[in-house]
Amino acid sequence: MRNEGMTQMTEESLAPGPERPWDIDANDETLPVLQGLQAQYGDVVRVRTVTRPSDSLVLFGPDELRWVLLTNRQNYKKGVGLERVKMLLGNGLIVSDGDFWARQRRMMQPAFHSRVIKQFGGLIERHNLALLDRWAERAADGQPINLTRDTSELSLNIVLQALFSVDLDKLTNEVGEHPFTMIARDSQRDLRFAQQFRALTKLVRQMIEDRRREQRVEMDFLSMLMEARDKDTGEAMPERALIDEIMSLIVAGHETTASTLNWTWYRLSQHADVEARLHAAVDAAPAAPVPYAEQVLHETLRLYPPVWLFSRRSLGDDKLGGYHVPAGTDLFISPWLLHRDTRFWSDPEAYQPERFAPEIEATRPKFCFIPFSAGARHCIGEGFAMIEMNQHLYLAARRFRLKYLGPVPPPAEFQINLRTREDLSMQVVAR
Ligand code: HEM
Repeated sequence: MRNEGMTQMTEESLAPGPERPWDIDANDETLPVLQGLQAQYGDVVRVRTVTRPSDSLVLFGPDELRWVLLTNRQNYKKGVGLERVKMLLGNGLIVSDGDFWARQRRMMQPAFHSRVIKQFGGLIERHNLALLDRWAERAADGQPINLTRDTSELSLNIVLQALFSVDLDKLTNEVGEHPFTMIARDSQRDLRFAQQFRALTKLVRQMIEDRRREQRVEMDFLSMLMEARDKDTGEAMPERALIDEIMSLIVAGHETTASTLNWTWYRLSQHADVEARLHAAVDAAPAAPVPYAEQVLHETLRLYPPVWLFSRRSLGDDKLGGYHVPAGTDLFISPWLLHRDTRFWSDPEAYQPERFAPEIEATRPKFCFIPFSAGARHCIGEGFAMIEMNQHLYLAARRFRLKYLGPVPPPAEFQINLRTREDLSMQVVAR
């Protein structure tokens, strides 16, 4: 009798959802379906699965997100959809879990302190100035630039230089172009890419061995991670873990930033008023970071969050929005949809950086803007990315405007990251 009663209660409190089974995945078909589910069933929706062992939940509201990402985060680990990422990144911070993740994160956190990141300002500026010299040539000869490729190479080179400093220069000088260039050039994220990418780990292992042999410490992420010690055991990271973390930082630190800059320049080219305000702000500022440029970047991250869908898996039973969450449930969260939710954003499709003015931001619930996720597993590179992008806008917008030459809007591609489907072609106009 008692058991029957309990079963009945559990079933009654399962979240509503469609009958049709569906395995939620990061691809172009997903968003419209999720949108429909929210409209029909509300903030917590249960989706039966085809191949997965248990139902999935989709979470649309900031209260549920706060619960999963912050308040009861101990009950949630990383979820499905990371298989392809794992192929590339081994057990790096993005995919690892539990005690191993906590230890790695503790050891890596000091390298991302704002004081440390400030020291990368010089290298960020150098790479930007080299790019802007090329843009100046294009402004003079009237040839368009491939903005998507330029921002991709810029952010890749910046993160690589921050990781390897002089060793990257050495590699570049030896062969004219460093072997990591394939990451920015090859936009396919297939098995072949994964194999070539993993081959780069050999190079990283060699750099680590050289530094150990020469007892050489540089001002870069590689040395910081080699020198990091577990505060309880005093031990350094095992070599396998060190290499996985380095490879993870290359991928995580490059595509997301590049995509944000790509979409930002597209939007600036479409909104003369925002562009004019950005020009006034960068012209008047003595240096980056420029507060209005940060608002512009946040507004881009609202409309085009590179990580547009991510997931968690429940470890034990839980309750969300009044509904039962069995252990082993996959939960899906879409910043893309949350950032367009009319309960928190008026006229959500409009590009209005003024939404992020401090006095307006203060009136919004915290968990309705999560391009870098939130809670303990929020992006470790947020500070680095924001400085890097702000400095780019500061240096570039003082000198140039970019005129977009393709179809409006450029089609988006919703894969692991949100990108433009085609590279963006831009006319560089000297200001
Ligand atoms: C605009 C730029 C960026 C965006 C939008 C972004 C977004 C995110 C998001 C949403 C997550 C959490 C994913 C999840 O919880 O499933 C994340 C995690 C992470 N990001 Fe970023 N990221 C950016 C730049 C960077 C940079 C520059 C780095 C490193 C240099 C970086 C390194 C990482 C790492 C290592 C994690 C895993 C953290 C952990 O689980 O402890 N990201 N990022």
